[in-house]
Amino acid sequence: MAESTISVDGKEFKTPVLSGSTGPDVIDIRKLYGQTGVFTYDPGFTSTASCESGLTYIDGDAGVLLHRGYPIDQLAEKSSFMEVAYLLLNGELPSSDEYQKFTKTITRHTMVHEQLATFFRGFRRDAHPMAIMCGVVGALSAFYPDSTNINDPVERTISMHRLIAKMPTLAAMAYKYSIGQPFLFPDNSLSYTGNFLRMTFGVPAEDYVVDPVIESAMDKIFILHADHEQNASTSTVRLAGSSGANPFACVAAGIATLWGPAHGGANEAALNMLREIGTPDRIPEFIARAKNKDDPFRLMGFGHRVYKNFDPRAKVLSVAATEVLDKLGISDPVLDTARELEQFALKDDYFIERKLYPNVDFYSGVILSAIGFPTSMFTALFALARTVGWVAQWNEMIADPEQKIGRPRQLYTGPTQRDYVALENR
Ligand code: CMC
Repeated sequence: MAESTISVDGKEFKTPVLSGSTGPDVIDIRKLYGQTGVFTYDPGFTSTASCESGLTYIDGDAGVLLHRGYPIDQLAEKSSFMEVAYLLLNGELPSSDEYQKFTKTITRHTMVHEQLATFFRGFRRDAHPMAIMCGVVGALSAFYPDSTNINDPVERTISMHRLIAKMPTLAAMAYKYSIGQPFLFPDNSLSYTGNFLRMTFGVPAEDYVVDPVIESAMDKIFILHADHEQNASTSTVRLAGSSGANPFACVAAGIATLWGPAHGGANEAALNMLREIGTPDRIPEFIARAKNKDDPFRLMGFGHRVYKNFDPRAKVLSVAATEVLDKLGISDPVLDTARELEQFALKDDYFIERKLYPNVDFYSGVILSAIGFPTSMFTALFALARTVGWVAQWNEMIADPEQKIGRPRQLYTGPTQRDYVALENR
């Protein structure tokens, strides 16, 4: 086994270098503090592996994303969201029987407790869907206490299935609530994605016919968002779960993290930005703002912590955006603005030097908008799909014998010890 030596104040610390199945090796520093009395410092975890995982692999320089070894572009083109969910949860693609059984199980868990509808009514009608999702997903733990024993693998599986199955129902309810329409019960005869579309866009007064073009585009978007290694929300789910918290509470924590504009909230921000730009002639103005360090504005949907060549998900979505708009007969000037903005930025030294490319959020909004979603729903759709990754990573962590409560250390820069001064003496 390879070894690394760290020297601290002349004291040598020898430690193993661990190799994964692919990707960079990692220096095992678990005993560093015990042996040398120092911590490592890595805000934002830019150089720190927080866990061992067999789910998803990213090579940011090569623009590669693999789920259990399978390239994302192959999965997006040939697979379905339910199949990818099975793959992430179980490690292998399902056989035909396994696939039928899995989809049936998920379908059977799509309804939510009637009392949850009352819970929704406590929100303002103009509440952001992510605010609602944070609340109602966390509240699921109160409705399903029978599946919160995290030490029982069967209960863990049931709660993972419940979460994957109920997210579309809850997301659709959040949408329906915001527009004042009645909630629709799930329809077990439809696919996972078709059912979600019906619960979102259908009304009880009429039959809803699922458009296969929309169903397939939506399913592709779900696949592309299913998991992404140890990103901020997934790390949050793992950290919350490391304390033994139940999975519904952990996923609620992940939803809260995803909401931020630097993470999942970027899809909403990217489309709002493209709409604000409006016409291609205004692109230089926005590019200049993105480059100006005194302006907090960033090009939303651009840049990534890991991808420094291209985001393979953005490639798939860029093609899908044209396909979907063509098939639906929609001509959206936002797509033209997006294409021109991309070309403009890719030729600009600022973006070239910093290796900033469109990410998954750059084109997804154009498709979601064409399907009919308001921008406020975009991040809720991301959360729906990412629930698969969150629960798979959470389950992997609980089953890992090396798992410990997550507890980072710090570099303390506050006052050193001092004596309390009584109020009258200050
Ligand atoms: N527009 C303008 N400049 C940027 C951008 C951007 N979108 N992204 C990074 N930079 C600059 C940044 O100012 C910095 O410049 P300098 O070296 O001169 O200080 C340099 O590029 C490196 O940026 P960083 O903030 O240190 O990089 P990071 O790895 O910490 O951040 C990021 C990654 C995704 C948060 C960031 O690129 C960003 O804020 N992008 C816009 C938001 C976005 O699209 N987020 C979605 C990410 S993908 C989906 C997801 O994760 O949910």
